[in-house]
Amino acid sequence: GKTIIVTGVASGIGAETAKRVMAAGGRVIGADRNPAALDLAAFHQVDLMDAAALEDLIARLRELRADGLANIAGVPPTAPPDVVLTVNLVALKRLTLGLVDSLADGASIVNLASLAGLGWQDEVAKIRAAEGLTHDAVADFCAAQGITPESSYFFTKQALVAWTHQHRWTWRDRGIRMNAVSPGPVDTPILGDFLETLGERAEEDMRIMDRPGTPQDIAPVVTFLLSPGSVWLRGVNIACDGGMRAHIEATSN
Ligand code: NAI
Repeated sequence: GKTIIVTGVASGIGAETAKRVMAAGGRVIGADRNPAALDLAAFHQVDLMDAAALEDLIARLRELRADGLANIAGVPPTAPPDVVLTVNLVALKRLTLGLVDSLADGASIVNLASLAGLGWQDEVAKIRAAEGLTHDAVADFCAAQGITPESSYFFTKQALVAWTHQHRWTWRDRGIRMNAVSPGPVDTPILGDFLETLGERAEEDMRIMDRPGTPQDIAPVVTFLLSPGSVWLRGVNIACDGGMRAHIEATSN
């Protein structure tokens, strides 16, 4: 079977993705700051906020020559802006770029973005400014760019969508592709944090959608992107949101 690295494997969408990869005969190498409840081929308990621990994780994972990387770990906007930027963007990019040349030919990289990534085109200057951001520079970046608790989460997901598009062809000589999945609200332990911070907006989304998504709605799309059937998808951001993005785009003018 294939070897797939899954971050955020201890909960929600990451745990469901790991289950599905294993059900299809794959080996999951998990990483999370919390212990994983699943019986994985290997698990690394790592806090992605810790730059040194992240480098250590990269060194270990490089030996795997993995077939897939599912970047699913993320924090909601109830976390301080520097934590949101570091976990959702800076650590994700570092892990990916630290691993990519060690991945097997034909490997697939999947980034868990969000409906919150809509509108990245309006944030290009800020996204460019964040390009080479490292762990130790995040706090200063947030201060300089005016990243607030209201904007931090949106900014990370916008930057992630832009980054996914940007790398549509970067590794195509080795058949390595990168795509993103963007859910609307999903019923996981952090849904309450989104409702707390985004308030009426998230409530309204869920009313329009009929119900929040579930990890079972999202994980099959992630596993599709990890599988050979998605080989011609490159730099794509799949809306997996019960129709929310279509609704917003169809009604925005
Ligand atoms: P979750 O909270 O159930 O899972 C996130 C996992 O990431 C947890 O196991 C957590 O321990 C791990 N994590 C967080 N910070 C970490 C750190 N510093 N180091 C290592 N691991 C860390 O949440 P869920 O909903 O499964 O989220 C997965 C992804 O989906 C996130 O990137 C989130 O932004 C995204 N998403 C979630 C939505 C929702 O409404 N639940 C909507 C759209 C996107």
